[in-house]
Amino acid sequence: MRAAVYDNKGAARDVLNIVERPVPEPGLNEVRVKIAVSGLNPTDIKARKLPPGQIAAQVPLTTPHRDGAGIIDKVGPGVAADRVGERVWLSQLDRTMTLGTAADYALVPANLAWRLPDGTTFAEGACLPIPALTAYCALFRDELIRGKTVLVHGGAGAVGFYAVQLARWGGAGKIIATVSREEQAVKAKAAGADTVINYRTGDVLQQIEAAAGGPNGVHHVVEVNFGANVALDAALIARNGTLAAYGSDAEANPNIPFSAFMQKDVLIRAAILYETPRKLISRAAAEINGLLEKKALRHQIAARFPLDRIVDAHEMQESGTTIGKILVDIAELD
Ligand SMILES: NC(=O)c1ccc[n+]([C@@H]2O[C@H](COP(=O)([O-])OP(=O)(O)OC[C@H]3O[C@@H](n4cnc5c(N)ncnc54)[C@H](OP(=O)(O)O)[C@@H]3O)[C@@H](O)[C@H]2O)c1
Repeated sequence: MRAAVYDNKGAARDVLNIVERPVPEPGLNEVRVKIAVSGLNPTDIKARKLPPGQIAAQVPLTTPHRDGAGIIDKVGPGVAADRVGERVWLSQLDRTMTLGTAADYALVPANLAWRLPDGTTFAEGACLPIPALTAYCALFRDELIRGKTVLVHGGAGAVGFYAVQLARWGGAGKIIATVSREEQAVKAKAAGADTVINYRTGDVLQQIEAAAGGPNGVHHVVEVNFGANVALDAALIARNGTLAAYGSDAEANPNIPFSAFMQKDVLIRAAILYETPRKLISRAAAEINGLLEKKALRHQIAARFPLDRIVDAHEMQESGTTIGKILVDIAELD
């Protein structure tokens, strides 16, 4: 089968190649999926890039990307045979995986391949896994958001765009989103945000307080960049508020204003999907499928590349300038 691979960390252009790899055989409780579309996420870039200060890092031969959509073509022991032929969206959710979805076939545990409802395309299915599951878990894990004021930082990001939509579906009273550009504001509004605030201009705390109806008015924060926003979040969050942070690219280990959070009895969850209980992930996938059945979720696709242009896809993802998902087309199965 055709597969993108790297065996050294480094720049996409230097390390990524397309090669022939053997078609893998599904093991116990696994399914093999013929991939239609592979979805790229920031985690795939972080896995491939050379960490700062490191000169070379040899790794096992690795096919990148955890997310994808396609058709189950073979099942391993322990999986019902009637799943063969099922259209699925999937995420491998395994940091050590070496057989990702940027290939003709990928293996995935059967409980991480979810039926793709009719009427949802493979491209839409490949947008969903890590972003939509992260958004769901960041909203519905620790507190009930019904009737509450929710702040989604980065409301036009891959995760943020789903988080705004899911907060609306979950009955949030008010949804405030932050963005840094007008095109992002349009997306966050379309997703269902009541108020969209440019976090790079003006007094952001004052604007959020005005939108929330006063100081300490945000009950739940969905945080994309904890290190950049932690002081702001400590200032705006409500008493007994909750904060789910799933990213902190600006500063991996920021200083946390502990007392400010403690005085308001705030719950902070540093969330990572790889370690999220599978039971919660199954619930998230089922709820997302319910929304797909009703055609009630929007997806945003920034660009699509054929497999032999995977380097361009990675470079675009790294540019940080796109809005929406970058996909790699593997085979026409629709
Ligand atoms: N923990 C997990 O399980 C998990 C799961 C998914 C993603 N992630 C991580 O979460 C991050 C986002 O992933 P993604 O796929 O959503 O990426 P994305 O599509 O690039 O979206 C990131 C968004 O965050 C915005 N942003 C950045 N800094 C911000 C700030 N200080 N305040 C408000 N918005 C800000 C960006 O906008 P501008 O920079 O243009 O303003 C962009 O819209 C990545 O670091 C990724 O690795 C973690």
